[in-house]
Amino acid sequence: VDWNARYLTQDIPWDKGEPHPVLPIFLSKNDGLFSEGKKHTLVPGCGYGHDLSAIAPHSHHITGLDISEEAILKASQLYPQQNISWELGDFFRWHSEKTISYDVIWEHTCFCAISPEKRENYARSASQLLRPGGYLCGIFFLNPNMPPGQGPPFGVTRDELHAYFDPYFQLLWDHPPEATYSGREHRETMMLWQLK
Ligand SMILES: C[S@@+](CC[C@H](N)C(=O)[O-])C[C@H]1O[C@@H](n2cnc3c(N)ncnc32)[C@H](O)[C@@H]1O
Repeated sequence: VDWNARYLTQDIPWDKGEPHPVLPIFLSKNDGLFSEGKKHTLVPGCGYGHDLSAIAPHSHHITGLDISEEAILKASQLYPQQNISWELGDFFRWHSEKTISYDVIWEHTCFCAISPEKRENYARSASQLLRPGGYLCGIFFLNPNMPPGQGPPFGVTRDELHAYFDPYFQLLWDHPPEATYSGREHRETMMLWQLK
């Protein structure tokens, strides 16, 4: 996929123009997750960065990372908040470029955008980017209603998620989001994984 071309031509059906609807609920219940102890959060595949605008007020520092120059440019214009950094880069190479270990990774529609043969790399990259005991947290798109094997977005089963993440992470909880975008009901789950 040429992600930058998708943004330049505005062929971006995933962009809903607002943060994931579960975020206000999730943040009110887990206020310390992104802030206590001066935590630094990474959001890979952040697109226009709407989720970061919701998480930033509850965060010490948060970095949005995307491989599309156009997405990062627009995100930085939409959300110039001081405690957000916008970075152009590849999630799979970011561990060699970053200067710190992150405390939290927020996942939302990045994993499902990655082709299934690279999913093992996603789990390894996440483990390399987090400090020991850090959290991988977010929404996993289980059923994007695509024909088998076709995407993005690529669907995933819970068993597959365990196969990718269990080698590095311990699952702390897994439940459907209390709210979502219209049309995505019953198709996602929320998970909190802790790096072993
Ligand atoms: C389906 S979009 C979701 C964007 C955003 N999370 C949202 O919900 O609006 C997937 C995003 O991942 C980005 N992306 C794909 N592969 C990437 C990689 N290897 N590293 C960083 N970003 C990547 C794309 O440019 C795109 O912005």
